[in-house]
Amino acid sequence: MAVDVLLGLQWGDEGKGKIVDYLARNYDVVARFQGGPNAGHTLNIDGKRVVLRTIPSGVFHDRPCNLIGNGVVIDPIEFMKEAAELEMIGIDLRKKLKLSEKAHLIVPTHRSLDAASEAAKGEGKIGSTLKGIGPAYMDKTGRNGLRVGDLLSPDLKITFDKLKKKHLDLLSLFNYHHDTTALEEKWFEGVDYLRSLDIVSGEYFINAELSKGKLVLAEGAQGSMLDIDFGTYPFVTSSNTISAAACTGLGIPPTAIRHVIGVIKAYCTRVGGGPFPTELIDDIGDQLRKAGHEFGAVTGRPRRCGWLDLPAVNYTIMLNGVTRLIITKADVLNVFDEVKICTGYVIRENQVKTIPFDISTADITPTYDSFQGWNTENPIQTKGNLSFTLQAFVKYIEKETKVPVALISIGPQRNQLIEL
Ligand code: GDP
Ligand code: IMO
Ligand code: MG
Repeated sequence: MAVDVLLGLQWGDEGKGKIVDYLARNYDVVARFQGGPNAGHTLNIDGKRVVLRTIPSGVFHDRPCNLIGNGVVIDPIEFMKEAAELEMIGIDLRKKLKLSEKAHLIVPTHRSLDAASEAAKGEGKIGSTLKGIGPAYMDKTGRNGLRVGDLLSPDLKITFDKLKKKHLDLLSLFNYHHDTTALEEKWFEGVDYLRSLDIVSGEYFINAELSKGKLVLAEGAQGSMLDIDFGTYPFVTSSNTISAAACTGLGIPPTAIRHVIGVIKAYCTRVGGGPFPTELIDDIGDQLRKAGHEFGAVTGRPRRCGWLDLPAVNYTIMLNGVTRLIITKADVLNVFDEVKICTGYVIRENQVKTIPFDISTADITPTYDSFQGWNTENPIQTKGNLSFTLQAFVKYIEKETKVPVALISIGPQRNQLIEL
């Protein structure tokens, strides 16, 4: 039995999509296990930029079948848009994709509830993508949710209207009005499209594949610092994003997991509100944003940028049981003479290397180690050609995390990767 789980170890956008696309040819199944269209995984396919939201990043290869697991929340409207873009470039999802009948659905009033909840938070707002993710997971745990399997029931409209009524009652408490009539029409169009896909019992499918000796790559969304339990709560997403969620989000046993592949950027970004100890609100932060094109793949918002935060990375390595690291965007640091890594924090005069309960940035001063930048004219292209300063940076990360680095990504294109 072999499932490898690939996930982000920071606050999302680590470059997971590009890496899954690269690794997908080695697997028989690529499966998403949590999150929904709040994710934006960018791939570069033959010079074309494609952003995947709910669909796994293995769809551009012949070998793997792709599965959207029960842990994912699907918005039929967003899904149909994403599918249409893929179909325009020749990807036939009817052949390449299976949907778990137990995945939950996002309905238009989930988006209204997301917006109402954010508006009510005022200054303390999360900076949600407003895709209705939180309210959809609330209905799942509140046992009111609609699932993909329900799309096949003749009572769908009745159940939909019941849920909508509940949402409208809640929205009137918020005094929030949002006309969803147009969205509803699209939602039912999206439902027709979803019905045309291969709806399966995800857990039976994946376990049958595993018992035939097939290899599965589980693709995480968001990042571990956005995990609902272990992230910078309440500035988090509404699902568990750590490796344990691959079990509940696909229906596989923990004993099936072989490798846990953790992806980190060579620096750090976050989009939305919440603590970010190494954030650089200065020229260096601006340079990182410019060099790394750090603008959200889903919302286009500028991402907040800062140096790599090792206490956070070591925390998420511990939570996930990471066995291999991948460093992305090493090329972005090319422009700097000096680069830094945060090695610990000073909190009320105490030196710590752990993540405190209340990680409010005001109380935290990061401590840094400095490295010479690789500042090379010719971007490093091969293992043999790896600049000495980048090698020192990578060795340092391996020493401090006790996890080997397997790959370094040096550009957004598919081939801009160095296997170590
Ligand atoms: P994901 O959500 O983890 O899949 O990451 P995103 O797609 O949201 O953000 C990563 C961004 O960085 C995308 O625009 C990628 O095309 C780009 N990218 C990925 N790897 C590299 C890299 O090694 N270097 C550079 N310069 N860009 C990269
Ligand atoms: P990928 O998979 C970065 C952030 C939002 C917000 C918080 C809650 O592309 O790495 P939500 O929409 O879930 O209610 O938002 O989580 N967030 C992400 N940040 N990458 C993502 O996904 C994210 N998905 C959610 O910006 O701060
Ligand atoms: Mg992203």
